[in-house]
Amino acid sequence: MDYKKKIELSTEYILKKLNGIENIDVALILGSGLGVLADEISHPTIIPYDEIPYFPVSTVEGHKGQFVIGTLSGKTVIAMQGRFHYYEGYDMKTVTFPVRVFSALGIKTMIVTNASGGVNLDYNAGDLMIIEDHINFAFTNPLIGKNYSDMGPRFPDTSRIYKKYLIDIADISAKELDLNIKKGVYLFNTGPTYETPAEVKMARVVGADAVGMSTVPEGIVAAHEGIDVLGISLITNMASGILDQPLCHDEVVETANRVKNDFITLVKKILYKLEVK
Ligand code: HPA
Repeated sequence: MDYKKKIELSTEYILKKLNGIENIDVALILGSGLGVLADEISHPTIIPYDEIPYFPVSTVEGHKGQFVIGTLSGKTVIAMQGRFHYYEGYDMKTVTFPVRVFSALGIKTMIVTNASGGVNLDYNAGDLMIIEDHINFAFTNPLIGKNYSDMGPRFPDTSRIYKKYLIDIADISAKELDLNIKKGVYLFNTGPTYETPAEVKMARVVGADAVGMSTVPEGIVAAHEGIDVLGISLITNMASGILDQPLCHDEVVETANRVKNDFITLVKKILYKLEVK
């Protein structure tokens, strides 16, 4: 079936389930260990991905694989508890399918979050970083192939995916909460391997502050669709080779658990301050 038709059918199903909700203000993509934010949503409507026609299904442990729709900080939000990663074997069109659905639902603002490794030597595990820009080190792109001009242009501008006004809101929110927040560049590595120490040195040389295995495909498709993006990385560990210790997923989950309350408070404050389009 045509990609566009699949998006329409998925969207139609979600709309039917929304009984009464007219406008969704913000989409939230919740990264590893950060899905707990969705538990804060009041009057939630839960839609498991596997119920939605043509919607992909999540395979990662710790990712629930469902939408949670409801109210958070006075805004109507749709949260993804569990996202799709390229390393799981999905193609880029599938990884970014949810962003297409967000756009079809009329959503204009997206907050995307992830767990990532700190490349910048001034960072520490447990830091939060607002994404200012990204580097696509996967050398593939979700927009390769047929362009649907009603979704966006053939050659989209990506000079401001992560909008300055959203970065400023996040920055002010963090300051008001006394959270020490970083701002930096996120580099996308396909995974599933963590980087080698040499790759991390290279990432630093090319201007990255953090590395991770998500977010960039979704950011690119949001740019294509004209959705404004705020990106927040939780630095769950220092990237490979920086500290004299091996990397493991348990550390990622542990740090996410340790910092999740700061993360939740920050996103709630940002949502509260956001003026929706
Ligand atoms: N590298 C890539 N992805 C990650 C990391 C990392 O160090 N930590 C959490 N996700």
